[in-house]
Amino acid sequence: MNVLSKIIAVHSYKGGTGKTILSVNLAATLAKQGKKVAIFDLDFRAPSLFAILRCEKARVWLNDYLNDKCGINDVLVDLSSRITGNGKLHAGLANPSIIAMKDMTTKDRQWEMHALTHITSLKKKLIDEQKFDYIVFDTSPGIQYSSMNAIVAADFVVVTTTGDRSDITGTKSMLSEFYKLFETKTGLVMNKVLDEEARSNNPEYVKKIKETYKVPLLGVVPCFCEVLKAGGQYLFPEDKPDHPFTQLLHEMANKIEKNDVH
Ligand SMILES: Nc1ncnc2c1ncn2[C@@H]1O[C@H](COP(=O)(O)OP(=O)(O)O)[C@@H](O)[C@H]1O
Ligand SMILES: [Mg+2]
Repeated sequence: MNVLSKIIAVHSYKGGTGKTILSVNLAATLAKQGKKVAIFDLDFRAPSLFAILRCEKARVWLNDYLNDKCGINDVLVDLSSRITGNGKLHAGLANPSIIAMKDMTTKDRQWEMHALTHITSLKKKLIDEQKFDYIVFDTSPGIQYSSMNAIVAADFVVVTTTGDRSDITGTKSMLSEFYKLFETKTGLVMNKVLDEEARSNNPEYVKKIKETYKVPLLGVVPCFCEVLKAGGQYLFPEDKPDHPFTQLLHEMANKIEKNDVH
């Protein structure tokens, strides 16, 4: 059966591979295409979405939902006005205070199992009941419980990686030993690619990547100076509609939507 991917987790072996930039801009792309989208920051060790989405004054955080202090609708911040059109974009943010970050490092396994039930219940609460089309999870790199929870809850895992040697080796072993455990569909994004040839989806390069990683390739994203310069300030589909990064985001979103990742 062709199960549609409604819940997308963006994960990687290392930090700095572009998870946050890709999650935010993928969520914005889907919203720009008219979808109702919720993005969640599950990187409790280094929260970023509050800053990128300029929601520094949020009062209720995803941490509070996981700590049974509130419902999910109390957490969601409506950012739909940032996207023109009929789409909707909501965000659930991780608390960036040092106390909250420290608190999240002290959680035991039992708490994490409880958090998992909260994360998996988002499908029923948001997709089934409130008719969200997509949920996007931005995660912590590596094998953190919060990331495992996102992967367990997801229908599709976007694995971001770069050409760094340590990243290649780590990503390869995660792909063969870690994601497989969860049996979730996986698509690789080669990010910050420098090689000119690779940029135009050169078949030789695609073949080499598929042979190296042995998973479907979702996209090849060049290293764009404008992305780096933007410092996370732009929602590319809205603010830079003609940028090639925006074009690539639309292609990746369409592939996920059509279940066309191989
Ligand atoms: N394709 C790209 N081209 C140029 N810079 C990028 C690209 N993707 C990500 N970056 C930059 O790399 C840095 C790390 O990205 P980020 O999304 O925060 O990574 P992560 O969430 O995986 O730690 C940021 O400064 C971001 O702007
Ligand atoms: Mg990040």
